[in-house]
Amino acid sequence: MNESQRMARSLSQVDPEVFDAVQHEIARQDGQLELIASENFTSEAILEATGSVFTNKYAEGYPGKRYYGGCEFTDIVENLARERARKLFGAEYANVQPHSGSQANQAAYASVVSPGDTIMGLNLAHGGHLTHGHQLNFSGKMYKVVPYNVRQQDERIDYDEVERLAHEHHPKLIITGASAYPRIIDFGRFRAIADAVGAVFLVDMAHISGLVAAGVHPNPCEWADIVTSTTHKTLRGPRAGLILAREKFGKEIDKNVFPGTQGGPLVHVVAAKAVCFLEAMQPEFVEYQKRVVANARALAGALMEAGFRVVSGGTDTHVVLVDVFSKGIRGREAEEALDRARITVNKNAIPFDTNKPMNPSGIRLGSPAVTTRGFGEEEMRQVGRLIAEVLTHVGDEAVIAGVRREVGELTARFPLYAWKREPARA
Ligand SMILES: Cc1ncc(COP(=O)(O)O)c(C=O)c1O
Repeated sequence: MNESQRMARSLSQVDPEVFDAVQHEIARQDGQLELIASENFTSEAILEATGSVFTNKYAEGYPGKRYYGGCEFTDIVENLARERARKLFGAEYANVQPHSGSQANQAAYASVVSPGDTIMGLNLAHGGHLTHGHQLNFSGKMYKVVPYNVRQQDERIDYDEVERLAHEHHPKLIITGASAYPRIIDFGRFRAIADAVGAVFLVDMAHISGLVAAGVHPNPCEWADIVTSTTHKTLRGPRAGLILAREKFGKEIDKNVFPGTQGGPLVHVVAAKAVCFLEAMQPEFVEYQKRVVANARALAGALMEAGFRVVSGGTDTHVVLVDVFSKGIRGREAEEALDRARITVNKNAIPFDTNKPMNPSGIRLGSPAVTTRGFGEEEMRQVGRLIAEVLTHVGDEAVIAGVRREVGELTARFPLYAWKREPARA
């Protein structure tokens, strides 16, 4: 066998162990109900771009100003991604190179604050993200963090507290956005608070960027100086990050992505981001996002009907945070029991949780992935009933087996990646 014959061999020929794991993962994704709020299923086109030969390319720098030769086609995909991102979100500037949401935040913060400066972000325990100032994260180590919270009575952001803390601590940067907050955030109120204390205002729209792109959620680009995002959650693109901003921040952000915090961009992923932004401009995407929101509401409604307390009394987005401790179980037990029924969720703290983070009082659910498979409100109500059935019988394996069968019927009606499943190896 010569080198080019060796290069042309397929994954199943070269590495049966990895090939088998991929096949099992396709079957796992197809055969369970994916309710993790931060996950989704990308299109074949996005998978193809992510698996393309652009993975071979080094391209430090930016279009037209690279440190490597041979970047003419890389420039095409990066320019497409940048232009489409700007157009999709109505932003003046876009940087499409961040490898992830965390790296987008790291570079964005570094563009406007210095180590030791004061920043404000939503407390992780109240729905914020690690990168918004958690002590174990770079953000909590590098900056002086003043966290803000939700109100106990309605579990919504306490804007009066944000205002009071901002006037007391004079942060240079105010961050909002969340990983487990089911309500629309009042970006206008944050803008006014940031202006009053001379802070830069940044929105991390990682969770909601698909809803924003489709116009079913207020657009933070209308209010914020800088907007960061992931591209793999509701936006349904490849696993990666994105920074949007007002033009005047662009130069600093470019410098802080590369060479500040990253080396060469993942050009194959940048190409997939370009495809993702194009897909998000289509009318079908708007319809999809409308269903995402309606489906989350239907799921929350079914769970409340079954007697579960839903944090903040419902949802405006794709996220539903359920207080399972209201029924006497804890997040870890709930996650494990649901897993046995092939319903995939994650345990999550609820605001003012009296239980520990490793076994908190809640679970977080999301509608984006099952909506991509084609679920509508009727199926979501059924899913709500199935979850309630498991959670009221966590130790009853016969009940769980019955739910698993119903899950199997549901997933068989809405197949996923059917065309990707290859026959088992001989
Ligand atoms: C609000 C928010 N920001 C940032 C991130 C980080 O994204 P990544 O996991 O790509 O670093 C997440 C991920 O869950 C998130 O929810």
